[in-house]
Amino acid sequence: MGHPIGDGTATVTDVSVTPAVPVRRESESLWRRAENVIPCGTQTLSKGPDQFVRGVYPIYLQRGEGCHVWDVDGNEYIDYPMALGPILLGYQYPTVHEAVVRQLGEGTTFTLMHPKEVELAEALVECIPCAEMVRFAKNGSDVTAAAVRAARAYTSREQVAFCGYHGWQDWYAVTTSRPAGVPTMLKGLAHAFEFNKTETLERIFLDHPGDIAAVILEVGGENPHPGFLEQVKALAHRHGAVFIWDEIVTGFRLALGGAQEYYGVTPDLACFGKGMANGFPLSAVVGRRDLMKTFERVFFSMTYGGETLSLAAALATLQVLRTEPVIAHLWAQGAKFRDGVAAAAAAAGVPVKLIGQPPRSALIFSDRSGEESTLVKSLFMQECVKRGVLFGGPVMMTYSHSDRDIARTLDVVGEALALVGRALDGEGPAKYLEGQPAQIVFRPKR
Ligand SMILES: Cc1ncc(COP(=O)(O)O)c(C=O)c1O
Repeated sequence: MGHPIGDGTATVTDVSVTPAVPVRRESESLWRRAENVIPCGTQTLSKGPDQFVRGVYPIYLQRGEGCHVWDVDGNEYIDYPMALGPILLGYQYPTVHEAVVRQLGEGTTFTLMHPKEVELAEALVECIPCAEMVRFAKNGSDVTAAAVRAARAYTSREQVAFCGYHGWQDWYAVTTSRPAGVPTMLKGLAHAFEFNKTETLERIFLDHPGDIAAVILEVGGENPHPGFLEQVKALAHRHGAVFIWDEIVTGFRLALGGAQEYYGVTPDLACFGKGMANGFPLSAVVGRRDLMKTFERVFFSMTYGGETLSLAAALATLQVLRTEPVIAHLWAQGAKFRDGVAAAAAAAGVPVKLIGQPPRSALIFSDRSGEESTLVKSLFMQECVKRGVLFGGPVMMTYSHSDRDIARTLDVVGEALALVGRALDGEGPAKYLEGQPAQIVFRPKR
């Protein structure tokens, strides 16, 4: 296998060592300072300490290599959220790293445009089915907002039907549990429909005849039922709405051309972000030429849109994706993980479901009554982090998760699930928890 780092030779805490809560002295000290100067203490809500087991998990990571990370107190872990998805090849992946250092030697951003904007746009047009033209930005939220704005301009309509999570911008934030500061008048303009339930989208079209500008859909959680994606596209087009695919998570992960290539359904516009530059801040809205031309009159412009380090990182990442079996590796390792977890859960009698596709999945735990339980999940996370494996929300496979990493992870998962099973049969998970349970991140229900 051609991936030179994260091959399991790094020394993560041996699972045979007595599991212990990691030392967190430096983490806690930094957190105390952060609470004083940073509202929420974090730049990314999903990375805050309340998303993990507070009092057990590290709070700050210092360094990564392959799929291994080291916290500020020197503890080492095998990482699974992988920075929430942007790391596709591995931390400090050599060819990406080198490309960025080379670019750094020439400059990061200029008064005029840079040739890499053209090179990368052409490369994306080549590999993404719906892409005839491309615009770049920095975050996923930038491009989902841009796609929705373009659809509104194109159709001269204002209403939007959405499914999934699409970022922090006003059009979407108003629909979440954190709408503070967003004009309430926007609320009537965006309507949620449920994944795999076409009838919920039909209802929106019935309630707003001739008014829906866009149907925007994320395909990151549950797997689509046969025909669902085709039905959503047909419904959108029947009603004159633009069909937008939010591929911020699925892009470059399920297939080189994203979920649209994997499922064989081509949207009108699509949004890419995480994964495209192996951790550098870059996103893209791509799509049909006539729709993309709307950006000639839609306001979508930013100082760092053509920042060169991220463009260099993306070109280098694409080069690896094109020439090495990266995506096959994500599927293979993800399948080993899924099968191993299923076997260990059955042996321990723990109700756990793995949703999503092997390159990106999520573990859903239930209690004995069958109710989804963050308490049970927290106990599992606690027992894993004590043994050197870092779990959070998503499980993101990378090109650097080696067989040895997966084997070590499954040993840890087996031990953790056995303990969770004993807790469920005995005094309950709360009794075994050594910190505060993880909070549910505010995501819309799907
Ligand atoms: C499906 C999806 N869309 C959009 C976004 C927003 O991306 P960003 O946080 O980079 O703005 C995310 C982020 O998690 C996402 O998962």
